[in-house]
Amino acid sequence: MDPASVESQLRGRFGRPYIYREQCPTTQELVRGLPEGAVAAADEQTAGRGRRGRPWIAPPGSAILFSLSLRPQIAPERLAAFSLVAAEAVCEATSPEAAVRWPNDVIAGGAKLAGVLCELREGQLVVGVGINANLSEDELPAGTRIPATSLQILRGGPVARAAVLADVLWELEVRYDRYAAHGFEGLERDELRGRTVHLVGGASGPAEGVDELGRLLVAGKAHSSAEVERLDA
Ligand code: BTN
Repeated sequence: MDPASVESQLRGRFGRPYIYREQCPTTQELVRGLPEGAVAAADEQTAGRGRRGRPWIAPPGSAILFSLSLRPQIAPERLAAFSLVAAEAVCEATSPEAAVRWPNDVIAGGAKLAGVLCELREGQLVVGVGINANLSEDELPAGTRIPATSLQILRGGPVARAAVLADVLWELEVRYDRYAAHGFEGLERDELRGRTVHLVGGASGPAEGVDELGRLLVAGKAHSSAEVERLDA
């Protein structure tokens, strides 16, 4: 994940500049205030965070942990759609088996491979991505909300994290440019479609895809993540 390895494999604008720390509290803060395209990555985070205030924990050196700085013209209500775009980019770059479990999980073989956390503050959109990379079955975190998997397990051997990071940044760039030109074009790799969703208030029904704002469609109505109690996965 060192700058020389990553920078030599970059294909586009994203990852320039590239900032790397062996350890930091969270890459989400390391990238704050930097220009569009800047990426901060770390081997270890001491205060890594996930969605809904959950911690994001990864053994040192095992994961691909980075935050990308973007400065789009994006209304806050479009953030959910952009998270799906980013998660689909991670799928495309990592595994043909991977799909997006709304609202932000990357799932392969029924287990979580990666997570995406988008945070909008003062005109900067920080896209944080954590991918389980070099972890064997024995090293996977236990007791997580969703069982975990890793690229090492899916590909049958350790992966070169710098190469995967460069691939993910390229896919993010392609999709970001498409999003800027055409808006959200829908979710192709939709892992949740057809599964039962339990809504706050007691109703439930099968997931029917997502709308143009990235909200989940259940029984013909659009729902934000705050309106979803749980997913049957
Ligand atoms: C989730 O699944 O809840 C989202 C996880 C996002 C984790 C990444 S790791 C890099 C970046 N830094 C953080 O503290 N969080 C994101």
